[in-house]
Amino acid sequence: MIDKINSLREEIRKTFPGRDIDPEAFRIKYLSRKGIISSLFEEFRNIDSSQKKIVGKLLNELKKEVIEKFNELKSFEISSEEKISESDLTKSAFPIFSGSRHPISIIRNEIIDIFKRIGFTITEGPEIEDDDHVFSRLNFAPEHPARDMQDTFYILRIYDDQSDPDDILLRTHTSSVQVRVMQSTKPPIRTISPGRVFRNEAISARAHCIFHQVEGLYIDKNVSFADLKQTLLFFAVEMFGPETKIRLRPSYFPFTEPSGEMDVSCKICGGSGCNVCKYTGWLEILGCGMVHPNVLVACGIDPKIYSGFAFGMGIERLAMLKFQINDLRLFFENDRRFLEQFSKVF
Ligand code: DAH
Repeated sequence: MIDKINSLREEIRKTFPGRDIDPEAFRIKYLSRKGIISSLFEEFRNIDSSQKKIVGKLLNELKKEVIEKFNELKSFEISSEEKISESDLTKSAFPIFSGSRHPISIIRNEIIDIFKRIGFTITEGPEIEDDDHVFSRLNFAPEHPARDMQDTFYILRIYDDQSDPDDILLRTHTSSVQVRVMQSTKPPIRTISPGRVFRNEAISARAHCIFHQVEGLYIDKNVSFADLKQTLLFFAVEMFGPETKIRLRPSYFPFTEPSGEMDVSCKICGGSGCNVCKYTGWLEILGCGMVHPNVLVACGIDPKIYSGFAFGMGIERLAMLKFQINDLRLFFENDRRFLEQFSKVF
């Protein structure tokens, strides 16, 4: 009987968990009422009493080992079942870089979110525009030097039966969308228009021939400069944080009167002066003003009933300030080392 026990012990030790081992079959074979262990205990009753001590000990040890083995087989089965249900079989076998939002998109979305919260809608207009929407209806006189402020890419000039030339061009600012919105919508109007603009400028760290702007327009009865100031303060605080201060400096744009440029207190040095703000404590972020009555008239809105404000800002400039980027060209190169840095931002 000792030999029988020993060989069974060998057999048990050679049993390992795996697909070909069914724990339940193992239990029935060894541990059930009619299983091997029970029959060994039957046999044990009839052996010589001088052997009972040794064989009894061996038999108990064998039984213990069989139970342990059964538990091992069972737990392997459970954990492998769990593994199967946890596996995502649609997942790629290789690590794949899932991409990140471009910093320009991050800032554009942030601007949109801020203005949406105070009731502004989003509007868009064409990138290929005409002189009428980009300049004429925005109160740029035909030979006005202000047209030279923006180095325009002209596409073609159509002579329409001897009348005035009609220029097709790439829009130099998103203010053209103001015109389209005013022409097609009855006030009250409260909208922002993000988009790409084009200027014939030499590419450098501070200038590019393609960049992005967001235009804002608010037309209603009794809109005042105070409304403009409060709106822009709200924007600056939401964008740059609660400590942010703004200041408005007088400026000139043909389509607004009065016009201003807005600075925000430098976030880097808190206003005490650093190389980012050129030791002024202020950073210029946008142009703004009250919509010129000539513009309202040119767009079919009665300036005796309505007034409004407008503003325009460059998205690259805001992104450079917010992420402390010192070269505009980085936005257009699609260098992964640059873009991957924004994967945690949104
Ligand atoms: N269009 C101007 C530019 O590109 C920015 C601007 C200034 C827009 C004042 C406005 C405004 O709406 O009121 O430089």
